Amino acid sequence: MASATTTEKPGEPPLREVGLCVRGLTKNFGGVYAVRGVNLECEVGQIVGLIGPNGAGKSTLMNIISGTMAPSAGTVYLDGKALMPSSAVECAESGIARTFQNIRLFKRLSVRENIKVAAITRARVSKTVVDEAGIDELIHFMGLDAMADTAAGTLSYGHQRRVEIARALALKPRILLLDEPAAGMNEQETLTLIGSIRTIRDSYGCGVVVIDHDLHFIMELSQRLYVMHLGQLLVEGEPHSVRHDPRVIEIYLGKKQQ
Ligand SMILES: Nc1ncnc2c1ncn2[C@@H]1O[C@H](COP(=O)(O)OP(=O)(O)OP(=O)(O)O)[C@@H](O)[C@H]1O
Ligand SMILES: [Mg+2]
Repeated sequence: MASATTTEKPGEPPLREVGLCVRGLTKNFGGVYAVRGVNLECEVGQIVGLIGPNGAGKSTLMNIISGTMAPSAGTVYLDGKALMPSSAVECAESGIARTFQNIRLFKRLSVRENIKVAAITRARVSKTVVDEAGIDELIHFMGLDAMADTAAGTLSYGHQRRVEIARALALKPRILLLDEPAAGMNEQETLTLIGSIRTIRDSYGCGVVVIDHDLHFIMELSQRLYVMHLGQLLVEGEPHSVRHDPRVIEIYLGKKQQ
C-alpha cells in the first residue's frame, strides 16, 4: 500500500505516532452523508467501542478504515503515516484487519483453510513461510479445535464469528476492527468473547475497534467509547460518562416528554 508521512491539518486534533488515527473522514452517497467529518483514535493495546443507532454510519466508517470503501474526504493514519489503500488486501498488508457485520467466510473451506488463506497473505508480505504452528495456536485460542476440519459454512453463527476473528488475527494486525462480533451469540458465548478480545489486546499486541448494539457487552469491554448518530460523532469519552450523557440517552430512548 502507498503511504506517506503527512503533516497535521489546521483545526484537527494532533496525530498520534503510534496506532490508528482517523481525521475528517467523510463518505457521501449522492446527497446522503453516511459519514461526515469523523475523527477517531485507537492506540495499540487499547479497546475502543463504536456505537450508534441503525444507519448511524458505523460500518461505513469501518469499511473506509479497512480499505473496502474509498472515502469522499479525510484520511486514515496508521503509526503517523497516511494510508492510501487501493484495495482491502493492501490495507490488511499494512496492519489493519477486520471482521464483517455480515460474515464473509469461505463457506466451503474448513476452519483451518479459512485461517490459512490469511496466513498465506501474511507470509507473502513478511517474505517468510506460512506459520502453520501459528494457525494451530489461533484455532486453539479461539476454541475451534473440535471443528478445525469442518466446513466453515456449516458452523453456528457464534463459531463463524470466532473463525472470522482467528482469520483476521492470522494477518498479525496492528489494529483489529470487529463489526458486531457478538451478534447471534448467546450470553455465555458473549462472555467468552469478552475474555478473548481482552487477550487479543494483551497478548497479540493490537488495538481493537469494536462495533456492537449490545450495550452491556460494549460497556464492559471498551476503554473508550465513540457514539455516532446520522453520520457524525455525537459523543466520545470513557464508557461510564458516555452512558450517562443526555445526548446518548436521547438517541437511544427518545427525548423525555415535558
Ligand atoms: N453503498 C451504499 N449506498 C447508499 N447508501 C449507503 C450505502 N452504504 C451505506 N449507506 C447508507 O449510509 C448510512 C449508514 O449506513 P451504515 O451501514 O454505515 O450504518 P450502521 O451504523 O453500520 O448501521 P447498522 O447498525 O444498521 O449496521 C445509511 O443511511 C445507509 O443506508
Ligand atoms: Mg453496520
